[in-house]
Amino acid sequence: MRVRLTLWYSAVLVLVLLVLAGAMYLLLARNAVQSTDSNLLEQADAFLTTVDAELQSDTTLPGLVQAAKEAIAEHRFRDVAFVILDPSDNIVITSEDSADNDGVRREFRRAIFTSAPFQTLVALAGPGTHAFGNVKGGRDGYRGVVRRFAVGSHEFTLVVLQSLHRQHEISKGIVGMFAVVIPFALILATAGGYFLAKKSLAPVVAMSTQAGRISASNLHERLKIHNETDELGHLAKSFNQLLNRLDASFDQQHRFMADASHELRTPVAILRGEAEVSLSREARSQDEYRESLAIVKAEAGRLSQIVEDLFTLARADAGQHPLVKCEFYLDELVLEAVRSARALALEKEIALVCEPGEECLFFGDEGLLGRMIMNLVGNAIKYTPRGGRVTVSCRVADGRYVLTVSDTGAGIPAELQACIFDRFFRVDAARSREDGDKGGAGLGLSIARWIAEAHQGSLELTRSDANGSVFSAFLPIFPS
Ligand SMILES: Nc1ncnc2c1ncn2[C@@H]1O[C@H](COP(=O)(O)OP(=O)(O)O)[C@@H](O)[C@H]1O
Ligand SMILES: [Mg+2]
Repeated sequence: MRVRLTLWYSAVLVLVLLVLAGAMYLLLARNAVQSTDSNLLEQADAFLTTVDAELQSDTTLPGLVQAAKEAIAEHRFRDVAFVILDPSDNIVITSEDSADNDGVRREFRRAIFTSAPFQTLVALAGPGTHAFGNVKGGRDGYRGVVRRFAVGSHEFTLVVLQSLHRQHEISKGIVGMFAVVIPFALILATAGGYFLAKKSLAPVVAMSTQAGRISASNLHERLKIHNETDELGHLAKSFNQLLNRLDASFDQQHRFMADASHELRTPVAILRGEAEVSLSREARSQDEYRESLAIVKAEAGRLSQIVEDLFTLARADAGQHPLVKCEFYLDELVLEAVRSARALALEKEIALVCEPGEECLFFGDEGLLGRMIMNLVGNAIKYTPRGGRVTVSCRVADGRYVLTVSDTGAGIPAELQACIFDRFFRVDAARSREDGDKGGAGLGLSIARWIAEAHQGSLELTRSDANGSVFSAFLPIFPS
């Protein structure tokens, strides 16, 4: 990534520099042409003014030649040449005729003035006008202006040529400068860019090294956050939050496994113990065998209940528990549950009452909701002492169905009320076992709450004190 960033950065820089250099070069070249042209025109005007002054009244050809000679002597520049042509474009005089012996190295060979490009330039200007053009030849070519002028009744032509050699030298200098400056800037910028990329990516490298060391066994470790406000800080924070969630769910999973195996161990131990006792003596009475088998049956039932509850929760956690939905009446479901719990209540001399309510048409999984109600009614009977009373009702309130199960038990201690929906939680696990209570494993309320939530509802403990507890399930009317 460092290299890629640097390459991208350098490529963009090269492009920008090249475009900039190109634009600058073009601008300079255009400027140079303009200033050359205006200089040429000035030279031509000055030359003609001098010729005019020398000419006075003698408008014959020898007179013009004499005047031109004077003007040439006056306007002598190393890289400028003057050429006068007669009306039929034959050379009358050039500034180079007398230049060979002045000791200065000239930019012009006389052959230029008869070359085809020169003729083309001369042809550019019409009568009474002037024109600019380029002429190939010499070291770097020439720029020229053609100007017609009248002497007496004849129209002559003046051509002023300026060598482009100096201009080309300047251009070459500029190109040379770019050729040095651009690679130099590039090397500098690439090195700087690489250094910066390395520096700004260093925390990422450090983070990935740290992250690479974190596994299930050290899930409590976190990435170091250097600056909470920058992007990498955010990344590290999000990653740490992800680790928090994973850690929590790993913990939960571990606890769940530990609790589950603990719960399963007790009935399995009882089963084994019972079988061992039965087998330890050769002869046993039928009653003794029956008694043992009854215990085995009860424990096996308990075991299968726990396993089934665990299976339900596992599927619920994975979001894979199917809801078989249909239309039914909640109030009828409540009545059914009360009817099937009657025997249980009778055994404990508990009055189980169903308060009459209105018709509550519902759309949901009837089997699961029946299980939820049975869990609540079963708890109420289980945790209410002999002679108590359990009331079940189903009504409409605040635009939803409210299903309540209230009892006259001892209630749940206030500080533990928050935990009763946790998996494997029982208020007094030890005592209920000693009492010979063969209750569940503390999964009943978790499952009941999940069932309510799976139907877009909720399950709460609405009241619990010394006079008893009230559990309420809130279910939406006609959930989708
Ligand atoms: N109606 C109730 N009255 C008093 N305590 C209750 C009542 N319902 C539930 N509890 C408490 O909540 C705990 C969790 O209930 P539950 O999840 O059904 O587990 P389980 O019935 O297997 O013990 C119970 O162990 C009990 O201590
Ligand atoms: Mg229960």
